[in-house]
Amino acid sequence: MTTIAPSTFQSRTQQILDSLQQSGQLKQLQMIEGPMDATVRIRGRAEVVCFCSNNYLGLANHPEVIEAAHEGLRRYGAGTASVRFICGTFDCHERLEARIAEFYGVEAAYTFTSCWNANEAIFPTLCEPGDLIISDEFNHASIIDGIRLAVSIKKGLLRGVYRHNDCASLREKLVQARANPEVTGTIWIVTDGVFSMEGDIADLPHIRALCDEFGALLIVDDSHGTGVMGATGRGTHEHWGMAATQIDYFTGTLGKALGGAAGGYIAGSRAAIDLLVQRGRPTLFSNALPCTVACSADKAIEVLMREPQRVTKLRANVAYARAGIESSGFSVLKSETAICPIIVHDTAKAIAMSRQLLDFGVFVIGFGYPVVPEGHARLRVQISAAHETHHLDALTAALKKLKSLNVG
Ligand SMILES: Cc1ncc(COP(=O)(O)O)c(C=O)c1O
Repeated sequence: MTTIAPSTFQSRTQQILDSLQQSGQLKQLQMIEGPMDATVRIRGRAEVVCFCSNNYLGLANHPEVIEAAHEGLRRYGAGTASVRFICGTFDCHERLEARIAEFYGVEAAYTFTSCWNANEAIFPTLCEPGDLIISDEFNHASIIDGIRLAVSIKKGLLRGVYRHNDCASLREKLVQARANPEVTGTIWIVTDGVFSMEGDIADLPHIRALCDEFGALLIVDDSHGTGVMGATGRGTHEHWGMAATQIDYFTGTLGKALGGAAGGYIAGSRAAIDLLVQRGRPTLFSNALPCTVACSADKAIEVLMREPQRVTKLRANVAYARAGIESSGFSVLKSETAICPIIVHDTAKAIAMSRQLLDFGVFVIGFGYPVVPEGHARLRVQISAAHETHHLDALTAALKKLKSLNVG
């Protein structure tokens, strides 16, 4: 057997980094020196307007949310020091999970330290050999990896992919599944509610109809839809006028609209949640959500339920910002969501444009490979209820300036 020496590994790694640098694709981490809000302070720069956080409702720096975290720290200390089933379940977890279940109007919910973990728990735990998981091709990486993990753990568990938000393609997969003798168990369909890179909205009514026709269960990861979509921010199903019970399982994050700290959850039937408590590997072998976060997320959801006008403001901001982007000469992928992608194709160009915008005082991230496929690089503008009109005008002005430089 030939192996490489540690020094060879170091030089291989350096070569990869060098080639990213040379092709203009090396990401630079910006150091934020204050709270996440409509504006942020970046090290070495003045305050800039932030258009790349997931702080959709402006709750990350909300006084009540911060106070709830302080109270959590005072009451429960710095950490749980345990996984949930040993001695890591605190009453603040119970409260938060009841709140999430109430928010959706479902039987039960269970939290994880991230939605990534939730997606790594749901498929290996709930799916069995003979089941088939059918996934939208643009689903989030955590769904893709969760399914890969499940299939590698459970021999005989099958997977398929349908074309993005294309119900004809989904139907084709379902028809094939019916004819496949290896599919003997449950068929699962999984989709993002709002797609994180395109900002478009899953056609949930049509997908639900296909679930009913073919006897499949529906999982929706609504990380970018929760707090954003629907009149009261319940999510993408509310946007479509659907009841929460028409979605079999939700996965979602506490790291975006719901306070922005971290954490994720699965919400749905009591039995499935009970099974996740027993068998979900991320929860059996990894520490519980910190109590400070359980307390701040609980408060964030309470504020959202109390103040649906935040969702209304976000919606108005989205419409205003989208019109502003179009008026600057750039075109944005059409949608009603708070994710506004401007496609520029080339990764190096997206990164250069993002840097230029930062010099103009607005923080917009440029995404390229491997976050999106090669040739699909983009600027992703994200709108928040924390933005005021002058912030949104600053975005339009900066984009106009960029356009006048003939960049993009
Ligand atoms: C659709 C979707 N699912 C899951 C995640 C992961 O969430 P978390 O940061 O809680 O792990 C994200 C984050 O970007 C996401 O967009």
